Amino acid sequence: MRAVWVAALLVAVTACGALFTEATPDADLFDAPLDGLSATELGAFARGDAEFARPFSVREGLGPIFNDLSCAACHSGDGRGRPDNVLTRIGSPADGFLAPLGGPQIQSRAIPGASPEVVPMGVALSLRLPPPVFGVGLIEAVPEAALLALADSADTNRDGISGRPNWVVPADYVPGVASARRIGRFGRKGQTATLLEQTVEAYHQDMGITTEQRPNDNLHPDDPASAADGASDPEIPAATVAAVVAYLRMLAPPDPSAETPDVVRGRTLFSQAGCSACHVPTLTSGDAPIAALRGRAVTLYSDLLLHDMGPRLADLRPDGSATGTEWKTPPLWGLRLMSRFLNGQAFLLHDGRARSIAEAIEWHGGEADRARAHWLGLSPADQRALLAFVGSR
Ligand code: HEC
Ligand code: HEC
Repeated sequence: MRAVWVAALLVAVTACGALFTEATPDADLFDAPLDGLSATELGAFARGDAEFARPFSVREGLGPIFNDLSCAACHSGDGRGRPDNVLTRIGSPADGFLAPLGGPQIQSRAIPGASPEVVPMGVALSLRLPPPVFGVGLIEAVPEAALLALADSADTNRDGISGRPNWVVPADYVPGVASARRIGRFGRKGQTATLLEQTVEAYHQDMGITTEQRPNDNLHPDDPASAADGASDPEIPAATVAAVVAYLRMLAPPDPSAETPDVVRGRTLFSQAGCSACHVPTLTSGDAPIAALRGRAVTLYSDLLLHDMGPRLADLRPDGSATGTEWKTPPLWGLRLMSRFLNGQAFLLHDGRARSIAEAIEWHGGEADRARAHWLGLSPADQRALLAFVGSR
C-alpha cells in the first residue's frame, strides 16, 4: 500500500518538476529580445538587462532623494507597474514656480540623513502608473510623418476624434537636437521624444543617479543635508546609460494569442465601435540604429497621439503641449499577459484606477464618448467578444 503511495508521489513530483522547469516561450515574456538580433546585439541586450535590474545602494549614489532603487522595481517584469510604484507629478513643467518646489516630480523617499519631498499645497497633482517598456524601440522608430498622417487636430473628418502630436523640445544632450521640436511618444502624455532622455531622466529623477548628461544630484529644495549622497558624480558611466537605452530598444513586444471565433468577431467589433480610430492596430517603423527595428509592422494599437478624454480622466496638469484633459493613446499590446506580471491583478489607465479592461473602457470620455456609448450598447455576447479580442493582444 505504502509503496503505491510513494510511487504516486514520485510521479506527481516528477510531473511538477517537468512543469516548472519548462522555460516560458519568448512570445509570453515582456523581456525577450527582438527576433533577428546579431550576437553582438544580444550581448549588449544582456548587459542592458542587468543594468535595468540593478538596485542601487547609497554608496553607489542612490538619492539623496529618490522613488525606487532600480528601473525594474517600477516596471515589473518589464511590464506596467502597480499602484505602489505610481509617480506623483505636480503642477506644470512650464510653470517657473516649480523649481523652488523641487521640480515637477515628488521624490517620496530619501537616503539616511536627507528628507523626502512632500506634496506642496495648491499644486495640480497627477498620478502616473509606470507603463510597460517592451516594444519601445519600435515605437521610437515610427517616423514622425506616419504620426502626422494620423493627426486630425481640427477634426476635419468630423468623427469627433482629433488626435494631435505632443510637440516637445528634447533636452540639449539628445544628439541632433539643434533642430528643436520633435513628436513626444513616451510617458502618459507623450512628453518625451527619445529613449535616451527617458533613461537619463529616470536615473536622475526616479533613482537619484547622476550621469554624464545630468551630472548634478537632484536635491531637496529646502534640505541642505540632502546634498550628501557620498558618491562622486557622474555616478554611472555613459556606457551604462547607452546599454540601458540599447536594451530598451531591443525589447520585443509579446505576440498575441491564437485566434478563437470570439477574438475574430471581437476584432470587427473593435473597429465598428471606433476603438481603432485611436488604438490604431498597426504602424510601420522606419529607419533605426538597430537593423531588426527597421521597416517592421508595429502592432501596438495606438496612434501615439493626444486625445481629450473628458473631465473624469483629466488631471488638469499640462505637459509639453498636452493639456490637462489630454492623454496619449496607450498601446494595447501585451494586455494578454498583464495580470501574469501583477500577481493575477490588472491595473489600467494612467493612474491604474481601472481593474479590468471593461472598467477601462467605461472610464473613456471626451473624444472617446461615442466609442464608449457604442460599447455600452453592445449585447453581453458582443461585449465578451470585444473583451476577448482586446485581452488577446
Ligand atoms: C519610481 C518608479 C520608476 C522607476 C524607478 C523608473 N520608472 Fe520608468 N516610468 C515610470 C513612470 C510612472 C512612467 C510614466 C511617466 C509619466 O507618464 O509621466 C515611466 C515611463 C518610462 C518609459 C516610457 C514608456 C512609454 O512607452 O511611455 C520608459 C522607456 C521607462 N520609464 C524606462 C525606465 C528606465 C530605463 C528606468 C531606470 C533607469 C526607469 N524607467 C525607472 C516609473 C518608473
Ligand atoms: C479618442 C481616442 C480613443 C478611443 C476612440 C478609444 N480609446 Fe481607449 N484609450 C484612449 C486613451 C487616451 C487612453 C488612456 C486614458 C488614461 O490613461 O487616462 C485609453 C485607454 C484604454 C485602455 C487602457 C489601456 C492601459 O494600458 O491602461 C483600454 C483597454 C482601452 N483604451 C480600450 C479601448 C476600447 C476597447 C475602445 C473602443 C470601445 C477604446 N479604447 C476607444 C483613447 C481612446
